[in-house]
Amino acid sequence: MKILVVGGGGREHAIVWRLSQDQENHEIYSAPGNAGMAELSKIVNLKADDIEGITAWALAEKPDLVVVGPEAPLVKGLSDELQKNGFDVFGPVADGARIEGSKSFAKEIMKAAGVPTGKAEVFDDPEKAKAQLPEYGLPVVIKADGLAAGKGVIVAETLEEATNAIDDMLSGNKFGSAGATVLIEEFLHGEECSILAVVDGERAFLLPSSQDHKRVFDGDKGPNTGGMGAYSPAPIVTDDMLPEIKQKVILPVVRELSARGIVYRGILYAGLMINENPDGLSPNSKVKNHLAASGDKINVVEFNARFGDPETEAVLPRLKGSFAKLLLNAARGCLNGDEIEVSTDSAATVIIASAGYPGDYQKGKKVRGLEQKVDNTVVFHCGTKEVDGDILTSGGRVFSVTGCGSTLREAVDRAYERVGQVSFEGAFSRTDIARRAFERG
Ligand code: AMP
Ligand code: GLY
Repeated sequence: MKILVVGGGGREHAIVWRLSQDQENHEIYSAPGNAGMAELSKIVNLKADDIEGITAWALAEKPDLVVVGPEAPLVKGLSDELQKNGFDVFGPVADGARIEGSKSFAKEIMKAAGVPTGKAEVFDDPEKAKAQLPEYGLPVVIKADGLAAGKGVIVAETLEEATNAIDDMLSGNKFGSAGATVLIEEFLHGEECSILAVVDGERAFLLPSSQDHKRVFDGDKGPNTGGMGAYSPAPIVTDDMLPEIKQKVILPVVRELSARGIVYRGILYAGLMINENPDGLSPNSKVKNHLAASGDKINVVEFNARFGDPETEAVLPRLKGSFAKLLLNAARGCLNGDEIEVSTDSAATVIIASAGYPGDYQKGKKVRGLEQKVDNTVVFHCGTKEVDGDILTSGGRVFSVTGCGSTLREAVDRAYERVGQVSFEGAFSRTDIARRAFERG
């Protein structure tokens, strides 16, 4: 199969790597790709959101399948344009990608579909928003409506913090048009997990559960990042919960979108909050008009219209079978559900980041140790480039290192052994990936 993968981060490297593991011999291209993807695919020198350029490339090269990694081209309508020209695309049309691109749209869909989520209201007037704050208790969550590169969410512990966040977003223009509308949202208690569902417009196949580590430092301290590591499976998601998540969260959303004329084909990523003690003392007792029936164990925190990063790097190595067939069948609306099996192995992914990330960081540092190996590990490139045969850093997140094993302990140990071999000036990682799973014993 001739396949174009759009994007150039750790997630897209993992997609290309997993396609290259299929028994069939695919011809893989990546746009713009990265130094790691260049070893497994032919680089197409086009930016991920260059809709015109990618469409022209596809018309000339006639790929059997295009897989879109990042949200920006989806929201901009890359899938629409490619579909219009007759191509099979894994990644939703722009109207579908609004489930990620607009948090108020996501809430509207969830409400219409009866999907459990926190109560929220939408404001464009800062005074009206602030007046409503006491209804939500503390902590309270303030969110910019649009895409804000993961930085548009403030979990405010005090009224002052909440008020400042509203002012920053609505009056301060801190988030540009993404912050022209804000949501005030009920704080949800529990433990987060990520569910990546492969959707064909009607049916869904749930990939194995995973858990991201959003804070930059050990013990979930410090600012939020794009994700510092992940592991799969996440024990907070018990086997009996997957069918429940499919029936109560994924399929109602797919049907609601379909009823609005949106055929959603691609990944529907549900960020969930699992509250194992939903009948305990409700910390949200001040909240009126709960959308979520209090007592719901599973609540949606957010939807994304794409594979998660770094969750993908931990989930894809656990899939057996033809990954290309799974994605192609979803793109064509004919998912069987038997394309892929999930291995019983565990996987853990550790991010190696540049000093200063998620704030300012330096680029262009020379990487050493990539030629070394540890069995059952893969180093995915997130932010690198090749210059005169050297691999240099070019991003805040530089590598995703995944280890696999028959136990999570084995997977984590292998990943860290491999992390120890890779070095560049200012490299750092969290040392406690999968800690929540280990704390459970
Ligand atoms: P989002 O971009 O909506 O995923 O939010 C980023 C992060 O903020 C989430 O992964 C959560 O850790 C946190 N968060 C967002 N909304 C809530 C909420 N309603 N309750 C608790 N934490 C939240
Ligand atoms: N790891 C979180 C995300 O991909 O949005």
